[in-house]
Amino acid sequence: MRGRIPDTFIDDLLTRVDIVDVIEQRVPLRKAGRDWTARCPFHDERSPSFTVSPAKQFYHCFGCGAHGSAIKFLMDYDRLEFVDAVEELATRVGLKVPYEGGGRREVREDSAELFELLEGAAAFYRRALAASPRAQAYFDGRGVDEATRARFGLGYAPDSWDGVLQALGRTPQRIALLDKAGMLAGGEGGKRYDRFRDRVMFPILDRRGRTIAFGGRVMGKEDGPKYLNSPETPLFHKGHELFGLWQVREANQKIARLLVVEGYMDVIALHQAGITQAVATLGTATTREHAELLFRNAADVYFCFDGDRAGRQAAWRAVESVLPRMRDGRQAWFLFLPEGEDPDSLVRQEGAAGFEQRLKAATPLSAFFFAEVGKESDLGSLEGKARLAARARPLIAQIPEGAFRDLMEGELERASGTRMPGAAGPAGAPLIARASAEARASRPPQRSLVRTAVALLVQNPALGATVEPPWTFAELRQPGVALLIELIALTRSRPSLTTGALLEHFGEREEAAALQKLAVMAFPGDGEALQAEFAGALAQLERQARLQRRDDLQRKLHETALSPAENDELRSLLAAGGR
Ligand code: UTP
Ligand code: MN
Repeated sequence: MRGRIPDTFIDDLLTRVDIVDVIEQRVPLRKAGRDWTARCPFHDERSPSFTVSPAKQFYHCFGCGAHGSAIKFLMDYDRLEFVDAVEELATRVGLKVPYEGGGRREVREDSAELFELLEGAAAFYRRALAASPRAQAYFDGRGVDEATRARFGLGYAPDSWDGVLQALGRTPQRIALLDKAGMLAGGEGGKRYDRFRDRVMFPILDRRGRTIAFGGRVMGKEDGPKYLNSPETPLFHKGHELFGLWQVREANQKIARLLVVEGYMDVIALHQAGITQAVATLGTATTREHAELLFRNAADVYFCFDGDRAGRQAAWRAVESVLPRMRDGRQAWFLFLPEGEDPDSLVRQEGAAGFEQRLKAATPLSAFFFAEVGKESDLGSLEGKARLAARARPLIAQIPEGAFRDLMEGELERASGTRMPGAAGPAGAPLIARASAEARASRPPQRSLVRTAVALLVQNPALGATVEPPWTFAELRQPGVALLIELIALTRSRPSLTTGALLEHFGEREEAAALQKLAVMAFPGDGEALQAEFAGALAQLERQARLQRRDDLQRKLHETALSPAENDELRSLLAAGGR
């Protein structure tokens, strides 16, 4: 989605909006020197550690680490999607968002009509429920009270081929739209008719509370699928939506946790019982988009699954989706339910308190992870340990850098007696490994030359223009060099980039977390002193690159032979001495 909006537009947008204005409208700010401060809106605190920098056009909380550009702030604070946050800012400054390939623009042009039509369908189903004693009896039978029916906008699709068609499809153009919204079914080129017939209806709302799709359940035990859902449409992408999220937001000012369950009725029963943080994936496995959406809304996420084999498999798929999103501060648990029960049946039997009890005893992600990867491995044998390590390693490697990954690596070392490549600590000494991993996680970032150069550049993107190619240090085999080169190229091509806009470029990329730490690393001095420090760091790197090249050539000379050109190169490198 993000790729459809050109980077240059994002840059332009971020130079036109002022992050201080954007945040000020939502969080009262106080001036403190060059920056503005407030109590952080993303965590509870007494004294303000949230700062907004007009110069860098980004915000940062020294308490919880929240940070980013104006776009990121809207995404986190207003809980908008990237595209919606961009739209909102663009509207503020009177820009029209260009969508590459045109697809999205077309979608947006008739999306207003689609939303209106779907809202019309939802209203039609609500009226039909009010008129159908049989459908009401169904909800009575399942214990759904009036308030809950209203909160979820529940309805009934009458037993007719053209209920919605008659009510909303007055013109060929409207019929085409109904079709586009997924409300119709029927053979290729043949007659179109209502997709949902004689079913109780569950509207699916988007993040702004607009109806984008429906689920419908048969009331009896007919053949065919129990639930029917809207197909994928321009407004509805199953893998990106969570049923109930809108209601969670309505009911909770601050969402401390989210519970992910499987079914519509599970969400509804939990909300009715007072557990108003339940959402459901829509009959699909948990996707990475779901994982991101979940954690963007709450730091703690509980996944509820059946206790059977299928349930554990589904839970494992959730683990795979969640691992790449497990930044520090986020936590996931797994709750396995007794055979034949679901959250709906349990909360009815045990009440909210009983269900909370179960949540308290849920399995942490780490424990479930190691139980699953160790399953078919005999940990008493070397072969078994090797198999465990081979399975776990690539998965752990997907966890973003941080204390959680270090701890998982430490745990793998302990369980398998092997070391992750790049992980610190001697094999077979788990306590030491773990302690050192923790120490590493809390120690302030080390100032290597590369880090210093990257930090200076992130904080002062204009410095990029001061370094002319060629950059001989590009060959240096040191961590971060490729990133430094990328940043230099980026800042040179976009001289007006702010720190906030630069971080926005890295969005969800792995490097984003490291860059953001560097963005707030303190440097004494300013202006010329920083430019001199940057130039000095690059000069040092060039020198190191020459030394590395000299060593490479000398090694080659000993091992094989040098070409005449390499011979000359080595001679001049040696003549330059250590410079
Ligand atoms: P379940 O079969 O577990 O149903 O499906 P449930 O939610 O307990 O339903 P009730 O209690 O019998 O009403 C879980 C979810 O999987 C999707 C639906 O989203 C459902 O809520 N599903 C299920 C379908 O999409 N189609 C189906 O035929 C069945
Ligand atoms: Mn059920």
